[in-house]
Amino acid sequence: MIITVTLNPAMDKTMVIDGIEIGEVNRADSVRNDIGGKGINVSKVLKSFGTDSLATGFLGGIMEEPFRKELMHLGIEDRFISIKENTRTNIKLVDKKHETNTDINEPGPMISGAELEEFIRFYERTVDEGDIVVLAGGLPPNIPLNLYGRLTRLAREKGALVVIDAEGEPLRYALVELPDMIKPNEKELASYLGKEALTEEEIVQAAQSLVEKGIRKVLVSRGEKGSILVTGKSILKGKGLEVQVKSTVGAGDSMVAALVYAENEKLSDSETLALAQATGAAAVATEGTKACTREEVEKYLAAAREKIEEVKK
Ligand SMILES: Nc1ncnc2c1ncn2[C@@H]1O[C@H](COP(=O)(O)OP(=O)(O)OP(=O)(O)O)[C@@H](O)[C@H]1O
Ligand SMILES: [Mg+2]
Repeated sequence: MIITVTLNPAMDKTMVIDGIEIGEVNRADSVRNDIGGKGINVSKVLKSFGTDSLATGFLGGIMEEPFRKELMHLGIEDRFISIKENTRTNIKLVDKKHETNTDINEPGPMISGAELEEFIRFYERTVDEGDIVVLAGGLPPNIPLNLYGRLTRLAREKGALVVIDAEGEPLRYALVELPDMIKPNEKELASYLGKEALTEEEIVQAAQSLVEKGIRKVLVSRGEKGSILVTGKSILKGKGLEVQVKSTVGAGDSMVAALVYAENEKLSDSETLALAQATGAAAVATEGTKACTREEVEKYLAAAREKIEEVKK
């Protein structure tokens, strides 16, 4: 079973406005509400690949019902823990006139000690040998920063695989427990190493040293520059694909879904990277917060395969 964990999900409200005026009453031309959060986005993309997953985390307040309804509608198994405070709404303002995207993100609800314990008990009961657990995204404000570390250890003790897509302290704590796979972007990896930016060589070196420590697959995404996959067997570079960029929202999450799918289907390293690259491209070619479709991914797969080269050690 694939289990995605989204501890601080959000209703993503996208409003399209033709020229925002600050301090005035503005009228939206269109509005979309999408359930979001990194783990949920991974579940959505997996679903479009025909792969089922169970989604958990925290949900509460006025958004709880619409959120659960949508999960059901999408065919994602909803095992979210109910909480007292409100799940957040993140607002995305798309200004057609000024061609800008403005995001306003809420911090998210406070989680009580009892709610956190309930989640951990559920997690311990549910995660089983052979499962793939995806821990993705930031934490609600009062959650201990070492939680991903604890969840990684618990899952590994059960014989499950763990995939991490996080940054900052939560990532640092998780890495201590040696998850099986990680997908940092270039910036997140640089910040983990205490640097501003990394050259391609430095990315390869950093990924190799993580693999030597025991992380099986390190996939570093680099936006339009593509990505680098380092495993115990190979060092592969995928050059960026040419795509008409509609929205980069969720490109990284889509890539995580591809990494999970590839693991589940036991694809080779080069096929894993090709699928990850094609999925990233399909995500950026897809409008707004919508999940990319399998058909869209298939369109980029041949080009993605051609862009892969081995990096000499
Ligand atoms: N402008 C782009 N052109 C082509 N491909 C892109 C572009 N941006 C992203 N991608 C594809 O998507 C992948 C993931 O993008 P990116 O490195 O930006 O992830 P991220 O920073 O983790 O994103 P997220 O905001 O979803 O967390 C890239 O490796 C690449 O394959
Ligand atoms: Mg990311």
